[in-house]
Amino acid sequence: MRMVDLIIKKRDGGELSKEEINYFIKGYTNGEIPDYQASAFTMAVLFKGMSDEETAYLCDAMEHSGDTIDLSEVDGVVVDKHSTGGVGDKTSLVVGPLVASCGAKIAKMSGRGLGHTGGTLDKMESIPGMRINLSKDEMIAQVKKIGIAILGQSANLVPADKKLYALRDVTGTVESIPLIASSIMSKKLASGSNCILLDVKFGSGAFMKNIDSARLLASKMVAIGNGLGRDTRAILTDMRQPLGLAVGNALEVKEAIDTLNGHGPRDFQELCLEASSIILEQAKIVKSKDEAREILLEKITSGEALNKLCEFVASQGGDPSYIRHPEKFELSKTIEDVYSEKEGYIEEINCLEIGESAMRLGAGRETMEDVIDMSAGIVLNKKVGDYVKKGEKLCTIHTNKKDYLKIKQDIHDSFKISEEEIKIPPVVHEYIH
Ligand code: URA
Repeated sequence: MRMVDLIIKKRDGGELSKEEINYFIKGYTNGEIPDYQASAFTMAVLFKGMSDEETAYLCDAMEHSGDTIDLSEVDGVVVDKHSTGGVGDKTSLVVGPLVASCGAKIAKMSGRGLGHTGGTLDKMESIPGMRINLSKDEMIAQVKKIGIAILGQSANLVPADKKLYALRDVTGTVESIPLIASSIMSKKLASGSNCILLDVKFGSGAFMKNIDSARLLASKMVAIGNGLGRDTRAILTDMRQPLGLAVGNALEVKEAIDTLNGHGPRDFQELCLEASSIILEQAKIVKSKDEAREILLEKITSGEALNKLCEFVASQGGDPSYIRHPEKFELSKTIEDVYSEKEGYIEEINCLEIGESAMRLGAGRETMEDVIDMSAGIVLNKKVGDYVKKGEKLCTIHTNKKDYLKIKQDIHDSFKISEEEIKIPPVVHEYIH
């Protein structure tokens, strides 16, 4: 087999066999196929697409390009949750402990933030002492003992994706649905859980800019997972404004704590309850989502969900006193309100701009080498559909940067205000299963 023939076949719209796709992934991972051929190939895929069979073969070949995790030692169903990434997305920090407090087992490998989106691992590290680099054995022991582990991806998990994603990033080939679907699902499948819930986001702050492309991506990933024997479901959720009120690492952890205490922002609490209900159904703990809601609310009211967060933090070396006393988190030197210059209804809060502004305040990285300021970020006071008076607070900025006035103005400008009444949008738009 020759790589050039596979490139030509795909360029001309042909369908590749399992053997041909295995040849590409194996050769590219071990360095026999050079970057220039792999980039021609990914560009051909971007233009010509892939059938469902080809996408499943690609995903399967990528999953088996390195280590895979065997979770069969853990009794019962193990669930994983994945979000395609957004602004203010701290869902795993609530859903993980919440479903674990109901008896579900959750094993999750998360990522770091880059650009306008945050990462769960960075948020976790805002809790002093918290360790994210658990070994495979530590992860399995922790899930068996307390029902939850969230950690960084191990070094040799899906090496094909590490190389391919880095290549796609610099060759304009990220935005291909079969390549995104196989990239995400290969990592989820290699992580070993029995069930997967995908939170596919759409809107200005998300990878998928509209609901149609989010639906297409979600359907492909659900088909791949179910086809390979894992119960895979997806929700399509709104990222046309930040999720909840807090954007920034420690600020988001505090909002997660509030939510586990029953005082979370409406949209964030709704997303957490919906995702957790589906997970409890996948884990066969309940028969219906309605039954799940009652149990979940009871775990929040009784304090068991928050206790589980403390247990999880302590088990990974973190200091649980920060969960009981969130006022212990260090605050930024500058905490300043941003006021509205107009009166009306909030029509839009540009999520991409809020995410980028939070990063410029110190909450995120522009390159992987940047160091994050855990205290920095933005806390919204208004959401889409709310009424605001002239001179009323839109949000508060937290920063240790000296030169922040331009950022403050950009944050102000990311709120679009209308004279017409605006309906409060739902957060979960569709459930695909
Ligand atoms: N996230 C991934 O893990 N892979 C992609 O291709 C895109 C987003």
